[in-house]
Amino acid sequence: MAKYRPWVVCCFTLAGLICAVAIICLCISSLVDRGCPGGSFKRAAVSADSRLCSDIGRNMLQQGGSAVDGAIAALLCTSLVNPQSMGIGGGSIFTIRNKTGNVKVYNFRETVPKSFKTNLLNDCPNTFRLSTGGQWIGVPGELRGYEAVHKQYGRLPWPKLFEPTIKLAREGINMPPYLAKLMNSSIVKSHVEKSSLCEVFCNKNKKVLSTGDILTFPKLAESLETIAKQGADAFYTGKIGQDLIKDIKDAGGTLEMEDLKSFQVQVVDAWKVPLGDSQMHIPPPPAGGPLLAFILGLMKGYHLTQSSLQGHQKKTLMYHRYIEAAKFANGQKRSISDPGFSERKKADHLIDPSFIKQIRERIFSNRTHDNSYYNNVRPSSDHMGTTHVSVLDEDGLAVSATSTINQLFGGAIYSPRTGIILNNELADFCGRADTVRAGEHPPSSMTPVILESKSGGLLVIGGSGGSMITSAMALSIMNRLWLGMSLKEAIAAPIVFVDSRNNVNFEPGFDKSVIEGLRALGHKVGDWKYFLNVVNGVEKEDGCIVAISDSRKMGVSAGY
Ligand SMILES: *[C@@H]1O[C@H](CO)[C@@H](O)[C@H](O)[C@H]1NC(C)=O
Ligand SMILES: *[C@@H]1O[C@H](CO)[C@@H](O)[C@H](O)[C@H]1NC(C)=O
Ligand SMILES: *[C@@H]1O[C@H](CO)[C@@H](O)[C@H](O)[C@H]1NC(C)=O
Repeated sequence: MAKYRPWVVCCFTLAGLICAVAIICLCISSLVDRGCPGGSFKRAAVSADSRLCSDIGRNMLQQGGSAVDGAIAALLCTSLVNPQSMGIGGGSIFTIRNKTGNVKVYNFRETVPKSFKTNLLNDCPNTFRLSTGGQWIGVPGELRGYEAVHKQYGRLPWPKLFEPTIKLAREGINMPPYLAKLMNSSIVKSHVEKSSLCEVFCNKNKKVLSTGDILTFPKLAESLETIAKQGADAFYTGKIGQDLIKDIKDAGGTLEMEDLKSFQVQVVDAWKVPLGDSQMHIPPPPAGGPLLAFILGLMKGYHLTQSSLQGHQKKTLMYHRYIEAAKFANGQKRSISDPGFSERKKADHLIDPSFIKQIRERIFSNRTHDNSYYNNVRPSSDHMGTTHVSVLDEDGLAVSATSTINQLFGGAIYSPRTGIILNNELADFCGRADTVRAGEHPPSSMTPVILESKSGGLLVIGGSGGSMITSAMALSIMNRLWLGMSLKEAIAAPIVFVDSRNNVNFEPGFDKSVIEGLRALGHKVGDWKYFLNVVNGVEKEDGCIVAISDSRKMGVSAGY
């Protein structure tokens, strides 16, 4: 029997050691695994408006993509599944936190074209109604924005992000349940059937598609394919742009090729707002971040805890104070404007502790006031629309992205040459500004935020639903941070929406006895019917990731 040479023995020992170390590592990692409760993820997650798009975003991450790759792919997908909310004919705001904790805001919402209708604001509706008409089309920023964030943070090749959506657009998707439900309402049905959107969303009898039908986007598939191959320039300087401009002109719009060519993405630092044990990073004006921070700043002073919702009296008082804060926020809406136009007001007072304290002293626990008390003199109209996607990747890159074409299907203008649905973003000036300038961003309620806690936790969250965004976000964050709810409960809890006339509107399911209590305090209850408030979020705490897509829009998150 041959003896083993010493180096062979050594080899075996070494192999044994490596084996032992590997086994210990496996044991530790499985212990860590067991630490994450069911339904949560260990590495990364995407919360988009639909399961299909969350999955597409997650697949990008699993193929080595960054959170930005995931967000772009999920949004492209959303332009098919929720085409009423966003698309490449619109714009977005991305709040991005890099691994070292630096938070930047990329604003590529639509801007006012060089030439626009004189006295545009005279066309603003006085009552709630969708603004149709070519005069409201702003310069789309979506693809320039994707290009900018992809250049900075992308890891997958640009065409890859478009692949799944091009395939779906060409082969078709089952009519998405939420879209089918929306199209089944008489207002939306006639809105679509009477407009050029009917080319995509109607059957051959010119009736809107419904559950069980297949929705295809053949023209959009072609455009997306070209953009995937040639880059955003195909849209901003090339043939797609030229075709789009022709269709916009046919629809009575004023955009020129020059407007597309000169579109620029704005990159700024996020504003940092302390919220007790957390720090919130908000997008500054023209985004709605300061309004959200203002409400939360006011509420922080009440030292809310889980017990603030226990018992009729405490619960009524909590919501009463929130409603008062929201009324003051309505009165401050006009301080949000594009800071690039220097004569405009700045909004930094909204995050100034002494201003917040001064306002809090004007909130009484036993009464409410007339609109003039809150400086709410000229109500703006309330809109709905928009989408949000939150993404957190394995490397710790976090993306909070809100994207829009403004109202439902924008202004209901479809470009037949390109398959693109156009925004009606300029309607966002209505009730919130007295003038409109070429190049200006309209004021927005969009407010994709990222919160970090002292213990290293992250919450990547944002909402949609036009002016309901601020309410939906403020209440979700209060519920999560202070009122003892899980992220799922925080988002699901019925909201109270204080509309632009300071009427108080309760989402179905809201506590009836609290409603009576609030009525008794003098609040006027409104009859708002469209609760399209939708909040999506991803949270990381103690190494586990919880991802929630709002069930109001039938959303489902994805992760691994
Ligand atoms: C994060 O952003 C800051 C500021 O742009 C930069 O200095 C830093 O290197 C970035 N960190 C990473 C990991 O990219
Ligand atoms: C559409 O609306 C009708 C009546 O308004 C209702 O009976 C039907 O169930 C709805 N269908 C869908 C798919 O929501
Ligand atoms: C409300 O409370 C204030 C003190 O906080 C008091 O001065 C005032 O009389 C009260 N008003 C009503 C209507 O009870």
